[in-house]
This record gives sequence, C-alpha cells and structure tokens, in this order.
Amino acid sequence: MRIVLFGDLHLYQLAVWPWQLLGKRLLGQTNLWLNRRNRFRIDLCDILAEKILSLNPDAILGTGDLTTTSLKDEFLAARKWIQQLRHACPVHLVPGNHDRYTFTSARQRYFERYLSDAQDIGFPYHNTLSPNLHLIGLDAAGPRCLLSWGKLGNEQCRRFDKILNQIPESKEHPLIIMCHYSLGSPSNCHQEPPSHGLRDLPQLTKILQNHSRPILYLHGHVHEPWLWRPDKLPHVIALNAGAPVFTTPRFPMGQGFWELDFADPSNFQYTHHALAPDNTWQSESLTPPSETGLSATLQGIT
Ligand SMILES: [Fe+2]
Ligand SMILES: [Fe+2]
Repeated sequence: MRIVLFGDLHLYQLAVWPWQLLGKRLLGQTNLWLNRRNRFRIDLCDILAEKILSLNPDAILGTGDLTTTSLKDEFLAARKWIQQLRHACPVHLVPGNHDRYTFTSARQRYFERYLSDAQDIGFPYHNTLSPNLHLIGLDAAGPRCLLSWGKLGNEQCRRFDKILNQIPESKEHPLIIMCHYSLGSPSNCHQEPPSHGLRDLPQLTKILQNHSRPILYLHGHVHEPWLWRPDKLPHVIALNAGAPVFTTPRFPMGQGFWELDFADPSNFQYTHHALAPDNTWQSESLTPPSETGLSATLQGIT
C-alpha cells in the first residue's frame, strides 16, 4: 500500500474585487501581496501533481490549507488540482484554518462543497484505506478574528473517542489520524506559539493516551516537514506534511511531500520528496526516532 501525504498548498489569487476585502480577508490578502506571494511558488503545482501521480499511490491524503483566504476562486482552483489526483485514486482531506478563513466561507461550507470526498462529509469521519487500515479525519479549523488557533470541541472529541473504541486493535497496522493542527513541536524544530496551536490539545492528548495501539498522526499548519514521537505520546508517530510549494533556504523549490509505504506492516517506510532547482526530485528516507522529543533530521536539498 502506498500513500502520498501533502500539506499546505495555499493556492491564491492576487486580483480581488474591493468588496471581497471586507473583514479578515483584508489582512490575509495584504500579507499575500507583500510577503506570501514571494514564498509560495504556486506555478510549481503542476509539476507537483505530476510527481505525485508518477508514484502510483493507492490513496492521497491532504492535511488542509489548500486555499489562502477562502475565496471561491481559490476553491475552484484547488478543486481542479484535486480532481486530477482523484482520477488516479481516492483523495481524503481535512480543512485548514485558511479553508475557513472568513465567517462567510465557513457558513457557506465552501470546503465541503468544493473539496470533500462524498465519504468524508461530517467530522470526525472514519474511512478505511485498506481492510485493516483505518483513517479518521478531524476538523479543528474555523474562522478566527485575528489569530489562527484551532479547536476540536467537546462533541467532536467525544465522537472521536467513540470511533477509536470501535476499531479493533491491530499491532500490524497503525491507525491513521489526520488533522490540520499539530500535537506540539519537536524541540529541534520551529516552536509553534499557543496562539497558532490547538486549544484543546490537552483533551486530544488524553484521548490518544487512552489508546495504546500504534497511531500515525498526520498534520500540517506549521510549514516545516518533521517526523517525531510527541512528548507524552510514545506510541504516536506525528508527521508534519510541510507546505509543498513554500520555498525556504533548505527547500528552495518548496518543501515537497511524503510517500508512505506499507509493504511490510512492521516496517513502514517514510520517504520525503522535494524539488531541486534543476527541476529534478530528490528523495530522502527517514526513520522515526525511537524516543520522544526530537524530530528525525531532514537534510533538505543538497
Ligand atoms: Fe494552517
Ligand atoms: Fe498553512
């Protein structure tokens, strides 16, 4: 079984009508014009899709923030990009805070209308990727006035716990949980401030602690790919998808994406793919650390 994981794509549109700039979008769009447009190479999305499809994945997972300020046109572009992947295999997504950027976009359910697979409506959703491989999608994204914190809420936590109790334990297959928000930051990576994190992280941590099976937790939101075992959760491997077309000194052509191979259930393979300046892809295999606290080190483009 081969799974591809991608993170914060952040498609955007530079030209907007003045009346679309009401409320928080004015902040987001200004940040886009002054800063974000120089770091996010959305012109690389086609080559990204081509590479993902060349791997012949059995499933593709996306951890949200496909858009930037939740404009309808951004969702239409994201849908077009996702459709080409859906022709090859199932694509499961969860929303990011930028997909619910304004109160109107959340109320109009743009994410569900334009991007959700029919099976994934309603959160938490529970799907099977193969007979023994379960996927649970969580939704912590919502419009906030200024900050970008997330919240699952008591009801979703209760239903999530119930689903976990219903899935038979299997040491051979980890349960995959996908949410836009992280389980904290490894001490050797960027430290996420509380105003950017999950408000009910203690509640989520407690639920995960009550289930000792191997868990693979997939997320995005912090634009830095990492692979670690969070403090207090040694049975959980947390994988940060990163932002595929976000350029940094270590990833000058975007942070790429992950390939997860489950050929041997007791030995999962984690491979990170990133584009080099000469338009070739560089791949790096990583092994999750056996201890909590630190992320395995990605070399980046060399
Ligand atoms: Fe985000
Ligand atoms: Fe993001």
